[in-house]
Amino acid sequence: MADDPHAAGAHADAIPRGKIRNHFGVIENKHMQAEDWERRWELGQDKSWQMPVVHPLLQKHIKELTQGHNNRRILVPLCGRSLDVNWLVECGHRVVGVELVEDGVLQLFGQHRWEYEVEEVRGLQGGKRYRRPDGKVEVWNTSFFNLTKDMIGVFDGIWDRGALAASNPKDREKYFRVILNLLDDAGSYMLDSFGYTSEKFHGPPFVFSTEDIEKTLGATFTYKKLEDFPNKKMLKKVLSWGITDIQEFLHILKKRKT
Ligand SMILES: C[S@@+](CC[C@H](N)C(=O)[O-])C[C@H]1O[C@@H](n2cnc3c(N)ncnc32)[C@H](O)[C@@H]1O
Repeated sequence: MADDPHAAGAHADAIPRGKIRNHFGVIENKHMQAEDWERRWELGQDKSWQMPVVHPLLQKHIKELTQGHNNRRILVPLCGRSLDVNWLVECGHRVVGVELVEDGVLQLFGQHRWEYEVEEVRGLQGGKRYRRPDGKVEVWNTSFFNLTKDMIGVFDGIWDRGALAASNPKDREKYFRVILNLLDDAGSYMLDSFGYTSEKFHGPPFVFSTEDIEKTLGATFTYKKLEDFPNKKMLKKVLSWGITDIQEFLHILKKRKT
């Protein structure tokens, strides 16, 4: 966890209470809020999480997510401008993304030169839905925490990369309540996550290991570990953030039958 800037001896006057200086040197809320994500997009810091390729673990384990079916309805929470959205569509699935920052939504559509229709979503203050005219991609421009299955329907699969990992740990219970609500009873939830120890780095990404899955989700989900390895490529990037080891995990989770 990060040094407490308000601890005795620290320069508390430089950083207001409840804020931290992040690894880009920018002061933001310790519990990240919409304004912090907007700022990161504005400053072009999306490059720090945006992968230049389709996620290799998604490609490797796609059958676990789709259970071998075509034309699944897949949710990509906190999607940013991830290339995974387009890849899933090219594989024959219908994809729904959720992204809080409108600039992120526009960049996703822009990078693929997709046309879109946009409409306000009734009941979601300020919320909009961007939709490709063929209906194979839609992105809801709102907070993930606003969604319910009555609004958006349920999903056969959820691909979670950089979504739970980006959400404030204090919001986890709320986060998983939404996941549980939006996942079909027979659906699959594929979760990519990280483990590291650091005295300096606060996150995101926040840590979520197999032990955390057991502790937090063991009563509601069955799960299988698909990957667990030290991510050497990522380590090169995060060394300067004060992280000296980083483990990547991939799990597939299914709702327990009640
Ligand atoms: C770490 S990035 C990961 C983006 C994407 N999943 C990827 O792998 O490239 C997290 C994204 O979530 C968005 N975000 C943050 N909080 C959100 C929320 N409550 N609801 C929807 N999107 C959110 C941010 O704007 C950012 O684009």
